Formats: sequence, C-alpha cells, structure tokens
Amino acid sequence: MSKVTTLNEFIMDRQHDFAYATGELSRLLSDISVASKIVTRDVRRAGLVDAIQGAEGVTNIQGEAQQKLDLIADTQFIRMFESGGEVCGIASEENDDFVAFDSDLSKKGKYVVLFDPLDGSSNIDVNVSIGTIFSIYRRVSKTGEFATIEDMLQSGAEQVAAGYVLYGSSTMLVYTTGAGVNGFTLDPSIGEYCLSHPDMKMPEIGKQYSMNEGNINICEQGIQDFIAHCQEYDPATNRPYSGRYIGSLVADFHRILIKGGIYIYPDTKNHPEGRLRLIYECNPLAMIAEQAGGLATTGRKRILDIKPEKLHQRVPYIIGSKLMVERVVGLIEKSSVVEK
Ligand code: AHG
Ligand code: MN
Ligand code: MN
Repeated sequence: MSKVTTLNEFIMDRQHDFAYATGELSRLLSDISVASKIVTRDVRRAGLVDAIQGAEGVTNIQGEAQQKLDLIADTQFIRMFESGGEVCGIASEENDDFVAFDSDLSKKGKYVVLFDPLDGSSNIDVNVSIGTIFSIYRRVSKTGEFATIEDMLQSGAEQVAAGYVLYGSSTMLVYTTGAGVNGFTLDPSIGEYCLSHPDMKMPEIGKQYSMNEGNINICEQGIQDFIAHCQEYDPATNRPYSGRYIGSLVADFHRILIKGGIYIYPDTKNHPEGRLRLIYECNPLAMIAEQAGGLATTGRKRILDIKPEKLHQRVPYIIGSKLMVERVVGLIEKSSVVEK
C-alpha cells in the first residue's frame, strides 16, 4: 500500500521551494488548513442549525446580503490569522476596510492575506458547493509597524501563494506557492488533508463553458460570438460544448481545473466593471490557473498584471483552458476592431 502524504508533511517537504524559507509561510498555510476544518464543520451542519443557516439581515459594503455562514467563516479565518503571528493584516470581501492587527507579535508578521471567506454563499440554502479563496503576499510596509493599504493593493503577480478550499461532496484544499498546484482531500475519519491531486494540470481545451447566460444580451459582442461558437455543432466531438454553471466561482473553477473548460463573467449593463472581485477572487484563482497551464484575463489584459486601485475593485473575468481563453480574446479583439 502506498503511503498517504498529509498536507502538513507536504508543506514541510516543500519548504525549500519558497524564496524566503523561514517556516512562516509553512505555518501560515497550516493555520489556513486548521481554520478551514472548523469552517467545514459549520458548513456541514448548515441545514440543521438555525444559528448557522440563513441571511444575517445585513449587507456588506458591496450591497450584497450577508449570510450567517459568511460571517462565521470570516471570523474564523481572521481569528486564526490574528493569533498565528505570521500575518500583519488582512483584507476580506466581508469587511469594509482592511484590518491591521495591533499586537506586537502580528506587527512582526511578514505576510498579508486577502480572502473571500465564503464564495458562492447564495448557494448555502440549496446545499450546493461553496468555498474559501485566499491570496498571500509579502508585506511591502516595514516589519514591526502596522500593515498599510499598499500591502493590500499589490498586483496579483506579486502573490507568494494562493489557494482555495472547496466545501463540496468532500472538502478539498488546493494551493500553489508558485511551484505547481497540488490538491488535498480532507479525510474526515482522521481529520487530515491527504494529497489526492498531485501536480494538477489544466487541460489545454475542455468540452464545457461556464457563464451566467442570463447576461448574454447585455455583454459585449466578442463574448456573445464566443458563446455562439460554443453552441455550434462540432463535427470533431459530434456535439456542441456543454454549458455548466454552478454559480459558485470556486466550484466552477475547480471543475475547469480538473476537466478543462472556461469560466466567463464579463462586464455587463448590470455590472459595468464586472461582477467578481479582483483581489479576493480573481487574482488567487488566476495564479492557480497559470501555474496549472491555464490563463486568466479581463479579455484585454492579464489579470495578474492589474495594479489594484481599491480593495473591492471588480473586473471582467475570463479564466480557464489556454486554447479556449485565447479564442475568446481573439473574438473580443476582432469585434472591437469592427466597432471602431
Ligand atoms: P460571493 O458569494 O462571494 O458573493 O460570490 C458570488 C460570485 C461567484 O461565486 C459566482 O460565480 C457569481 O458571484 C455568481 O453571480 P451571478 O449570480 O450573477 O451569476
Ligand atoms: Mn465570492
Ligand atoms: Mn463571499
């Protein structure tokens, strides 16, 4: 029987991959895994306990209804980051402003974490997969002082690690530190994440596309052309592409990472800047996609090259298999030339 590799063993083995291997990033990743186990427990009870399921009755700064679990997950991760000593500050989708931790221990922390505590939370009530998405940067402010807004607004290319936890039919943690992507499945009987998907590679092309097609008539021509192309009969496969849209970015992305495909959330009349948030959702998944051989773009610019201007900035988002992303970018260029 082959030996099971736990997440902690794997993190320790790979510590030498990090440019500044002092063990802090390893500890931080391990803290994230612990917080995610606590959130898994709460997510698994969501249908049973009124204190966990349902809307909190408040909206976040982006005007979206917050679910109780959004706030439970947010608090759980923040607590872990605040007590760990590796992180000097965080920014989360559920908080209006970033948080600079004020203990002496935290001020010495070298990292900041930007995260979406629960992605797809409108799916909680209907028992559909949701997840946590995180992004880790080295601080640019001075160690020993408070974290600053500049620490938070770094371009995605500066990420030192990124990952997500998917609370699906099983819980999985997938992450990269810039040396490939690895996936771990939580074995509930032993409470450990075990390496189940080593060195993940995204297929260059897939058979599925993922978009909220309710928006098809209120987005740009190039996207409409691409979706029309997906729906054409393809003699090579004897069918059109299949549409798959879960409505939890993290779950749609996970499928694409494994099977190939494309996810598109363009700018629309309703969301003129796009719907998804650059620093909490788009950047971390873009780093994972690129590390696995895929691409992520606004349609005009590589996601990881964007310098964020504000915390809750939204961007148009196209992510997935290389050949499919290149195709849609080509159609956007073509339709933009025609428009001029
Ligand atoms: P969140 O639950 O963190 O607010 O994110 C929801 C996001 C994303 O997960 C999903 O793909 C998208 O919003 C769905 O938006 P539509 O309902 O407009 O399709
Ligand atoms: Mn989200
Ligand atoms: Mn969220």
